[in-house]
Amino acid sequence: MTPLNPLLYPAIFFRKSTRSYGDSAVPEGKLDALKTFIPGAVPLLPGKKAAFDIHPHKGAAMKIAAYAENDAASFINMAFMLQQMDLFLQANGVGALWSAMTRAAEKQRQGLAFGICLIFGMAKESPVRSDISQFNRKQPADIANEPGNPAIAAVRLAPSARNRQPWYLMCGKNTIGFYCKKGGFLDNTLLKGLNWFDMGIAICHAVLALQKEGLTPNASVKTDAPDKEGFTYCVSVQY
Ligand SMILES: Cc1cc2nc3c(=O)[nH]c(=O)nc-3n(C[C@H](O)[C@H](O)[C@H](O)COP(=O)(O)O)c2cc1C
Repeated sequence: MTPLNPLLYPAIFFRKSTRSYGDSAVPEGKLDALKTFIPGAVPLLPGKKAAFDIHPHKGAAMKIAAYAENDAASFINMAFMLQQMDLFLQANGVGALWSAMTRAAEKQRQGLAFGICLIFGMAKESPVRSDISQFNRKQPADIANEPGNPAIAAVRLAPSARNRQPWYLMCGKNTIGFYCKKGGFLDNTLLKGLNWFDMGIAICHAVLALQKEGLTPNASVKTDAPDKEGFTYCVSVQY
């Protein structure tokens, strides 16, 4: 995999969701930097297509509408890329929010289905956390069979829809299998798809953490991955 921008890594430990935006527009320099960053976002699974458009949102806030092919692996790949944008914005002092409630103007773009929006803008209050203790997250032992794996500390801080943190990491020798907790009725009906975004986000954090260790992660979808009861296998990362 092409290495992700290492400047994104520190933002994992201070990012937060911004839900309240001020009246000032995102400064032109920051918007231009985002427009340059987006085409360079690294895919997780290079065969999968994704597209990203910037549009106005409410007031001075804006949004990135993200599109992908209509299958789980494509949505995971798309979210992996969109999370690089979330971290890029927050590393640059711009507030951001993954928003399942925000629609895009177009349901399709170049044959790709609309997935989700990332809202961004100048936050009314601080766009980032001042301390890691402000994260409300599961413990490493709850999300991995090897809590000491170098990816876990970054994965556990990943944002997820309703903070559900549906991921479980099966760590082996130089490999991690990413599994997603099977949801209840709501997750499988109205909220279908959000789990895949959560998984792409978590894998983005894992890849940044592995790179930080000087490792070279690569992703693939294995056909012979072991089953885990109550979970769905998504993707493996070798390093
Ligand atoms: C796929 C996805 C969809 C989300 N949708 C919404 C949403 O519609 N409204 C909202 O207020 N927050 C939404 N969030 C934000 C989560 O609630 C938030 O990430 C989580 O509570 C953890 O908080 P943090 O991002 O501040 O660390 C979403 C997050 C993800 C990853």
